[in-house]
Amino acid sequence: MKTLIMVLGMVLLSGCSDQNLEKTDLQNGKELFGLYCASCHKETGNGQFLLGIPRNNDTHMSINEVASLIRVGHKDLDNMPTFPQLSSPQAYAISSYLKHKLGAQ
Ligand code: HEC
Repeated sequence: MKTLIMVLGMVLLSGCSDQNLEKTDLQNGKELFGLYCASCHKETGNGQFLLGIPRNNDTHMSINEVASLIRVGHKDLDNMPTFPQLSSPQAYAISSYLKHKLGAQ
């Protein structure tokens, strides 16, 4: 019985640590999106049609392309500001959150 409990405990613990890792990244992405993107694109990524801000939660751009858009911009999207103050991991956290969480809605 003791062994069973220990094995169960280990399975639970390892399951948790994986989840926490993923959560931290997505959590960072969520917070950064709230700080840097939501003022225009809204928390949902639905944009604000009347202000000429497109939704970005259904973008066809890849995670890499969005991360690059955030930090250096994109020639076809020059109405959007860039955020050179963000680090590359921060830009990736935001674009993963956008694609994996907001895009799933
Ligand atoms: C000041 C308002 C503003 C902010 C802040 C802003 N954006 Fe944008 N975003 C725009 C506008 C305007 C466009 C359309 C650009 C164009 O057509 O030239 C756009 C376009 C985009 C697109 C392309 C959508 C498509 O059609 O594929 C993505 C992706 C995007 N933004 C992501 C982000 C992310 C991520 C952030 C936060 C780091 C952010 N934006 C912050 C205004 C903003």
